[in-house]
Amino acid sequence: MKFFVDTADVKEIRDLAATGLVDGVTTNPSLIAKSGRRFLDVVAEIASIVPGPVSAEVAATDHPTMLAEGRKLAKIAPNIAVKVPLTVDGLKTCKVLSDGGTMVNVTLCFSAAQALLAAKAGASFISPFVGRLDDISAPGMELIADICQIYRQYPHFKTEVLVASIRHPLHVVDAAKLGAHVSTLPPNVLRQLFAHPLTDKGLAAFLADWASTGQSILEEPIEDRRALAQAR
Ligand code: E4P
Repeated sequence: MKFFVDTADVKEIRDLAATGLVDGVTTNPSLIAKSGRRFLDVVAEIASIVPGPVSAEVAATDHPTMLAEGRKLAKIAPNIAVKVPLTVDGLKTCKVLSDGGTMVNVTLCFSAAQALLAAKAGASFISPFVGRLDDISAPGMELIADICQIYRQYPHFKTEVLVASIRHPLHVVDAAKLGAHVSTLPPNVLRQLFAHPLTDKGLAAFLADWASTGQSILEEPIEDRRALAQAR
């Protein structure tokens, strides 16, 4: 499963990209507004930090303007994925951009029927929002299961299932069990994936026992030990 980070906070993206575990970034107009920065500046900077797909969302709702905005965003960097909402005009725009070789992320997907349309329109990514469905007592993960099942029936579909609106680590684990291609994670959720109290407890015990030996790995010479290991 690929991990994208769902933020327009460049400092967070740099920190997390340093782990080597970040495959892409998703932004949306709300995240751009939160960053307080100029949209094109922040998207260009993110695209220079992360080599994988960086989603940048159009602001128009009519096809001609969406297309013009999408083409402009795509010119910023080759790893820009133009994000369009799942509307008739959005999918018309998706089809034209995809046919022209631009990556498109179709967002605000809340049904399997919508996901089927996005695949037919040639989307690179479909973004079903699991957290927002859970919020209204509709199980978001059931939508991921349905989309993965449908896409598997049609191997010519190249659309990747990008699980969005993730709220906690269990969303990620459940999406991975279903075979979803990508999870886009708020930075705090990505950090939560690393954490387990037994890891912290176990490490503390190992470090205490190691300290009691009084040894240092870096201060020990290695040559004699290599010869000993190779002689066996
Ligand atoms: C990602 O592409 C979406 O814009 C994002 O995951 C939405 O998450 P939210 O429901 O927490 O706003």
